[in-house]
Amino acid sequence: MTLREILKMGDARLLRIAQPVAVFDTDELHVLVSDMLYTMQSVNGAGLAAPQIGVDLQVVIFGSDQINPRYPEAPVVPRTVLINPVITPLDAAEESDWEGCLSVPGLRGMVPRLRRIRYTGFDQYGDPIDRTAEGFHARVVQHECDHLIGTLYPMRIRDFRQFGYTEVLFPGIDASADD
Ligand code: NI
Repeated sequence: MTLREILKMGDARLLRIAQPVAVFDTDELHVLVSDMLYTMQSVNGAGLAAPQIGVDLQVVIFGSDQINPRYPEAPVVPRTVLINPVITPLDAAEESDWEGCLSVPGLRGMVPRLRRIRYTGFDQYGDPIDRTAEGFHARVVQHECDHLIGTLYPMRIRDFRQFGYTEVLFPGIDASADD
């Protein structure tokens, strides 16, 4: 496991359309996934996408087996490795909530997302994943999959009055680490 550098907004590699993974269960893919899990855990991230460490592949990870100290009120999302994902809306309902991103440290913004989705894809072994999700779980999946199409959450903000520094917006929470 290697701690990988997380690219920050402004780096052109965050704007690419990521390539699909063609072959599963390879040493290369397992190393990538373990580096991503280690890197995400080291900064208490809610999720991480391969483009955020400069890897141009459709690989995202999210979730944890316990409460995330950065999002203590958020429900637990199962730890998931999701490759070549496809998101389908279950209906048109949206909801807005605060998001942060490890590639946009120190900031939070109010982002509208689909409330209920189905997502499909594969894990690192090539086993299919097919789930429905709503609320925070659906939000995390949409945020991470956006990284695969070169989209960072500030690009989704509609009301820039609800975008600012975490330490100012939420003075009570520990914003000393990366967002
Ligand atoms: Ni992000």
